[in-house]
Amino acid sequence: MTKPLVFVPHRIAESALALLRERCEVDYRDIEEKLDDASFAAGLQRADGLMIYSRHKINASVLEKAPRLRVVSNIAVGYDNLDLPALTARGILATNTPDVLTETTADLTFALLMAAARRVPEADRFVKNGQWNEWLPSLMLGKDVHGATIGIVGMGRIGEAVARRAKGFDMNILYFNRSRKPEAEKALGVQFTSLDDLLSRSDYVVVMTPLTPETEGLIGERELALMKSDAILINTSRGCVVDEQALIRSLTERRIGGAGLDVFQMEPTPKDNPLLSLPHVVTLPHIGSATRETREKMALKAARNMLAGLFGERPENLLNP
Ligand code: DGY
Repeated sequence: MTKPLVFVPHRIAESALALLRERCEVDYRDIEEKLDDASFAAGLQRADGLMIYSRHKINASVLEKAPRLRVVSNIAVGYDNLDLPALTARGILATNTPDVLTETTADLTFALLMAAARRVPEADRFVKNGQWNEWLPSLMLGKDVHGATIGIVGMGRIGEAVARRAKGFDMNILYFNRSRKPEAEKALGVQFTSLDDLLSRSDYVVVMTPLTPETEGLIGERELALMKSDAILINTSRGCVVDEQALIRSLTERRIGGAGLDVFQMEPTPKDNPLLSLPHVVTLPHIGSATRETREKMALKAARNMLAGLFGERPENLLNP
């Protein structure tokens, strides 16, 4: 029996590659960079399975060049890069990698919140640029995190993990979600409220919702205007959940206190994005789940999903309805 062919157009953990190779042929490209379009299309032409990071967009026109494709295994929890109806219409299974990155992404979210609150990157630049000539009582004054109110928009797995961290900092925790989470309310003391109420009461607004047609632009001009003038917006989910132009206006006019952003409307964000020159904005290059341990766990999970899909079992993290 011929083995199925899995196309992996970039580097993954050795352990995940070895797992795939036990049962499949693997067209593997040991590169970090995104493969050029022509080589990607050539690989896709022959592939039964495709394993990708979310930087690859898979839509109907891409699928036309994939006559044999049966499984797309996303090495990410977010899957806004996949056109699920188009995949389902062709009978192609789609999977993602939840759970294994929850705690890691929550760590980064909290790191970003702390960095923005206490101006860590700005203070680091200040010292390294040789500007620290004298200790001054009001040097780099920030904003307290402990005891403050945090508003979590989207109480999924990662939202709950952020809430657990916030509880350790004695924060007052509000959340807004499609549905109430009575268990989280009991275990973490989090309080469900409307989006508008959350925005107007929070010192830190943390955007944790996946990008869907319903959440695109969820935080726009009106919502930003509801935030306190010293509140800080943190986004580690997807850039398009926040209206970036409205955010730029709000930050430039100092209508909110600052922002911590791991994600942008366009990635990589253009070098002339005004957000990059605002001192009260901390920016990161979409590294929420980027630890060595978690990247390996994500690749292993994606490989297991791939094998299940190709060999007739139901993948643990199947996305198709
Ligand atoms: C995820 O897993 O969705 C991360 O944001 C990486 O794309």
